[in-house]
Amino acid sequence: MVLIDVKAIPSCQVLAVSGTGCSLTAIQGLGTIFDASVIQKAFVDAGAVQCGFCTPGMILAAYLLLKENPDPGEKEIASALDGNLCRCTGYVKIIDAVQLSARRLSGGV
Ligand code: FES
Repeated sequence: MVLIDVKAIPSCQVLAVSGTGCSLTAIQGLGTIFDASVIQKAFVDAGAVQCGFCTPGMILAAYLLLKENPDPGEKEIASALDGNLCRCTGYVKIIDAVQLSARRLSGGV
């Protein structure tokens, strides 16, 4: 998953040249292992990362959601994450992580 301008796109479905002139953000653009973003830390703290295969897409989708809606409900989170498949967590911890991210970004935790 990558962000092209303000849209999450599966990176395997776009040619690199189609992003010419666009803002392109991969998961590394949000934070690194040494300087993780609030959302990345929340995913770890909530136990939402197991194998990690789905995690970049989940975090990028959460980032876009929280930019638009800083206090999303569970259904809005589920809708925003739609299309990102997780075989490990059952989504409960992922939704918890997005809610934790929202609280932390708003200064509530
Ligand atoms: Fe393994 Fe989501 S953590 S697929």
